[in-house]
Amino acid sequence: METTETIFTRHSIRSFSADPIPPEILDEILQAGRLAPSAQNRQPWRFIVIQGADKVKSLSVNCGLIGLSNFFIRSAPVVIIACADTKRAMTINKQDYYLVDTAIAFQQMMLQAWNHGIGSCWLAAFSEKKIRTWLDLPKSWRIVGLSPFGYPSEKKSFHAKLVSSFAKSADRLPMTEIVQYY
Ligand SMILES: Cc1cc2nc3c(=O)[nH]c(=O)nc-3n(C[C@H](O)[C@H](O)[C@H](O)COP(=O)(O)O)c2cc1C
Repeated sequence: METTETIFTRHSIRSFSADPIPPEILDEILQAGRLAPSAQNRQPWRFIVIQGADKVKSLSVNCGLIGLSNFFIRSAPVVIIACADTKRAMTINKQDYYLVDTAIAFQQMMLQAWNHGIGSCWLAAFSEKKIRTWLDLPKSWRIVGLSPFGYPSEKKSFHAKLVSSFAKSADRLPMTEIVQYY
């Protein structure tokens, strides 16, 4: 896929086929995160790759009550948890850039995945506390987001249709509202 096509066609995927992601493609996705830019090149991101039905199921159980809405991750062959080591955080103008850095890296990974026809979906609905305990994460790490990765199933699940219509996922604000020229 060409870059423009990758960016313009990406959308959140919430139903996955059982096809596994080849290891070399998974590695390429992770490399796309590794190569991302970051404030003062601090590279605060840390990625935890959860693979296989049993482990993905355990993760979904450990997403807490708020994570129940994202039960669909169970159909994905891989879920990646994007963390940031706050010890490597860069603060400018009283803003902690570890969130920005990690989000850029994760989005690069999602675009690289989509380039191979692999879908993903940013998820913020999870209990950080529960996942932190389950994985015994270092104290300085925050969980920025997580996402399933997998080939889209041919048919969208009812839940996938419901969530994207509830969020009006295809809608975007007009250019006139988001861009100002001086
Ligand atoms: C930071 C962030 C958190 C999100 N959290 C969730 C979530 O918990 N569950 C979910 O189904 N979608 C989640 N989404 C996906 C959004 O609903 C989706 O990106 C938006 O509706 C636009 O749709 P699109 O990604 O298909 O273009 C999240 C997206 C972002 C960027």
